[in-house]
Amino acid sequence: MTQETIRTVQTVSELRKAVGTWRSANRKVVLVPTMGALHEGHLSLVRLAKETGERVVVSIFVNPAQFAPNEDFDSYPRTFEDDLEQLAKLKVDLVFAPPRDEVYPDDFSTHVTVAGLSEGLCGASRPHFFGGVATVVAKLLNQCRPDVAIFGEKDYQQLLVIRRMARDLDTGAEVVGGPIVRESDGLAMSSRNAYLTPDERKHAPELYGTLKDIAAGLATGAMVAPLLEKGRERLSGAGFDVDYLEVRNADTLQPIEGHVREPARVFGAAMLGKTRLIDNVAVPGSGVQARAI
Ligand code: PAJ
Repeated sequence: MTQETIRTVQTVSELRKAVGTWRSANRKVVLVPTMGALHEGHLSLVRLAKETGERVVVSIFVNPAQFAPNEDFDSYPRTFEDDLEQLAKLKVDLVFAPPRDEVYPDDFSTHVTVAGLSEGLCGASRPHFFGGVATVVAKLLNQCRPDVAIFGEKDYQQLLVIRRMARDLDTGAEVVGGPIVRESDGLAMSSRNAYLTPDERKHAPELYGTLKDIAAGLATGAMVAPLLEKGRERLSGAGFDVDYLEVRNADTLQPIEGHVREPARVFGAAMLGKTRLIDNVAVPGSGVQARAI
């Protein structure tokens, strides 16, 4: 078998040159931002990108600005060669893998904040997180100037924060969401699943099971509060330390109490040992949830 090769650039000027050539030939350019350690979830977004546009750029950058000092920036899995191999198989047109100082020079001074959507859920326990994400994605959209950028619904709040930022800052990029890819037992794929011990891995699908059962209960007209209460007990019983379990409007992220009468999703985050897992599930029949702006 012949080894596939893939074009990789490390600087913004090389990226701009490649994308500029495509744009002047009227090619639709799609960007898929990642932090590497690629799995099927990431690869599904790359496939969606290939269906959506004519040229696909994947960025790989473990963004220090979205990790707090006590979080896992240093130990975050880095599998660059393997990532390139997988992207080459999918015939990605370009990989942008900048070193840290290409993205953040020493005197870097700018911070992008998306008010409202960044508060609550993951924003409550990780206050630095969405600012770090919004800042780096604003930069990536400026650096690459894609027609479309694709993000996973796995990180649903992140998707909405980025979509709002992209619109507010007139980036001209359409932000598209891709569906969550799961292991066969329901666990949402995540680079952080690699941290789970074999015993934790056995219990990990309970997060999805709990969210799915809450969503199904809401779809039959049951009230939010008792379902969440039962869900919290179930997760604690399975060894999780629950960070949040909530039902929110799928477009505005406003909390929903009582019965569900609007597009809704159930959101959960919990620690299993040292690993933080997050997931979310749509409430069936609660309304169309738009994937594009
Ligand atoms: P990362 O965790 O590497 O994820 C890159 C993209 O893959 C994100 O849009 C994420 O939502 C999506 N993704 C992850 N797991 C998925 C799954 N199981 N199914 C579908 N999509 C999945 O998210 C980030 O990186 C960073 O915050 C980033 C946006 C790159 C900014 O630094």
